[in-house]
Amino acid sequence: MAQIITFGNFKGGVGKTANSTMVAYELAKKGKRTMLIDLDPQGNATNIFLKTKFNISNDLFSFKSSLMSSIEEENLTNSIINITENLDLLASAPDFSLYPRYMEKISNYDERVKYFSTLIKPLENKYDYILIDIPPTISLITDSALYASDYCVIVMQTHEHSFDGAKAFLTYIQEEVIDLYKAPRLYVIGILAVLIQAGAPVDEATIINAQNEFGKENIFDTYITSMQRIKRYGVTGITEGSMHDTRVFDVYTKVTDELLSRINEVESYE
Ligand SMILES: Nc1ncnc2c1ncn2[C@@H]1O[C@H](COP(=O)(O)OP(=O)(O)O)[C@@H](O)[C@H]1O
Ligand SMILES: [Mg+2]
Repeated sequence: MAQIITFGNFKGGVGKTANSTMVAYELAKKGKRTMLIDLDPQGNATNIFLKTKFNISNDLFSFKSSLMSSIEEENLTNSIINITENLDLLASAPDFSLYPRYMEKISNYDERVKYFSTLIKPLENKYDYILIDIPPTISLITDSALYASDYCVIVMQTHEHSFDGAKAFLTYIQEEVIDLYKAPRLYVIGILAVLIQAGAPVDEATIINAQNEFGKENIFDTYITSMQRIKRYGVTGITEGSMHDTRVFDVYTKVTDELLSRINEVESYE
């Protein structure tokens, strides 16, 4: 059964999409059967992965079915696109923003939150890891992703607002998703720091604040530094082969190894 991992923070532009796509890509390279679910109607992760697919195979993809129609058909498989070996994408589209309204047909909010986890259940035995990229707002979409997840990685940019976003997100997970909606498995596996500029005073101050606030052991030992190449992947899709790519992959190999060892540690208690 797949482990389901959401990358979150209630703040846009902090690196949720960059990190979820890169970690998914890296997991697949390690031979893990991986799917990324793009639950952001803006479809940034979808865009990055479709370009990545084109880089690899020159394939232009046309959708069989939008995520919203697949949900209405109660079968998500028509929205799954294979990107590269071991890597699938459950693609988003703008009409997914209608999901909260569509779900109003279920009157009880707790039941609405649970529904998405029942939709992905049939996919879980096809993958080792399912990663979820979410939009930056509190909504039924984020609640559904967190409810369905085993783990959450909180992405925190070393920027005051992102730090506050990470704090708010953690409180929300505990008070709403776990206590109120009774998410069956959700566990915060760690906070991933994305440095604005390695060595800058703001980075160091935010990291020290975060260590005091969340506990040093809850912050990933590997930091993501700011790399122009990561920004470029947003435009070109993920590429491999140049020295700049190698620098990015070196970091993501470390982050992914650390993620897996953190998960192993938790699983070994159970
Ligand atoms: N480590 C990084 N170095 C440089 N640019 C980055 C890095 N991480 C993310 N970015 C860029 O910052 C912007 C916001 O990141 P994104 O992952 O889309 O954030 P979110 O999904 O949280 O809104 C994007 O243009 C992305 O390419
Ligand atoms: Mg995003």
